[in-house]
Amino acid sequence: MAINARITGWGMYAPSRIMTNDDLTRLVDTTDEWIVSRTGIRERRIAADDETTTSLSVNAARDALAVAGVDPSELDLVIVATCSPDYPLPATAVTVATALGATRAAGFDLQAACSGFLYGLATGSSFIGSGMYRNVLVIGVEVLSRFLDWTDRNTCVLFGDGAGAVLLQASDQPGGLLGFNLFSDGTGFEGIIVPGGGSVCPASPSTIAEGKHFIKMAGREVYKYATRQLADSGVAALRDAGLTVDQVDQFVFHQANLRIIENVQRQLEIPDEKLYVNIEKYGNTSAASVPMALVEAVAAGRIKPGDNVLMVAFGAGYTAGAAVVEWTADPARAFLAPGEQTRLGKPRVSDPEMAVAG
Ligand code: ACO
Repeated sequence: MAINARITGWGMYAPSRIMTNDDLTRLVDTTDEWIVSRTGIRERRIAADDETTTSLSVNAARDALAVAGVDPSELDLVIVATCSPDYPLPATAVTVATALGATRAAGFDLQAACSGFLYGLATGSSFIGSGMYRNVLVIGVEVLSRFLDWTDRNTCVLFGDGAGAVLLQASDQPGGLLGFNLFSDGTGFEGIIVPGGGSVCPASPSTIAEGKHFIKMAGREVYKYATRQLADSGVAALRDAGLTVDQVDQFVFHQANLRIIENVQRQLEIPDEKLYVNIEKYGNTSAASVPMALVEAVAAGRIKPGDNVLMVAFGAGYTAGAAVVEWTADPARAFLAPGEQTRLGKPRVSDPEMAVAG
C-alpha cells in the first residue's frame, strides 16, 4: 500500500519589530510610493538582536508540533531550508532539533534559496514515501536582514525575516502531497548572489571592505525569469499530480514581488479569491515566504479539508519548486498553537473549542 505524506501540523513566526517603507527612506534614497508600486511591499519584519535563524525556526516548529499534537521526541527528521543559517557550519537543523527536544531526529540544512521550502517538502515527502521515516518537520526560515547592505536600495527594501514550518506524517489514507516539480538552472547564478565568503572568494578584509558578504541582485533579469518559471513549475507540478489549474482551490506563491504574482495570476487565469497574498506585511522572506503564506491562508479560512493547494517558489540559482497538496487537516487545530501568529484568523471548519477538546 502506498504511504502518503500529509501535512498534519503548521506554524509560523515573524519577529515583532516592524520596519516600514518610511523607515527605509531614512536609510536609502527611496520612497514608499516607489516600493509599493514596484513590489507591493509596505513593511517587513526584522529579527531582534537576540533572535537567530534557530530561534525563529523553533518558534514556528513548536506551533507546528502543537497543531499536530506530536511530541518532539517522535520526530525522525528535521529539514531546515534557509540561505541565512546561523553559521556556515554546523547545520541550523541540528541546533533547532536540540532546542525542540527532538532527541531521536536526524537533521540537515537545505539550500535552494527562495525555493528551499518546496525542495524541503519534496525531500521530506520522499523520506516518508520510501518508508524510511514517519514524522518529518520541514522549516523554511530566513534572517536575511543580517545579509543585506542597508545602503543598497536595490536590495534592502525587498527582504524580511520570518519562519514557517509544517509537520509531514506518514499515512495510509489518501490526500497529502500529490505532486512536485523541482527545477534549477545555474546559467543565472549571478542574478542573485552573495559573492564573498565561499570557496570562490574566501572571506578576507578586502571582501568585507567591498561588501561581498551582502546579497547582490540584478532585479530586472530575475523578474523576467521568475514570471515565466513560476508558471511553468506550477503547471508541471499539477501535471505530476494529475490535476489542472481549474482544480486548484488555493494558490500560494512565493511572495517576492506583487507584480510577479499578478503576472502569473494572469498567465494561469487565477481568480482573486483563490490567490493568497501577504507580501505587503512581510516583504520577500525567501524560504520562509511560502510556509508563512500557507499558515496565514489556513488561518484566514482559505483552505479546508479536500482542497487542492498549489505552492510555487522561485529563487537564486536559479531554482524553482512547486508542490500540490490535498489538504487533510482540520484548520481549527491552529488554535492549539502556542504562537498567536499561527492562531490568527477564523478557521471555518469546526468549532475551535471542540478541536481543542478533541
Ligand atoms: N527606490 C527608488 N528607486 C529604486 C530603488 C528603490 N528602492 N531600487 C532601484 N531603484 C531605481 C533603479 O536604480 C532604477 O533607476 P535607473 O532607471 O535610473 O537605473 C529604477 O529604479 C528602475 O529599476 P528596475 O530594476 O528596472 O526596477 P524594476 O521595476 O525591475 O523593479 C525589482 C525592481 C523590484 C527589484 C524587480 O526587478 C524585482 O522584483 N525583481 C525580482 C526579484 C525576485 O523575484 N527575487 C526572487 C528571488 S530572491 C532570492 O532568491 C533570495
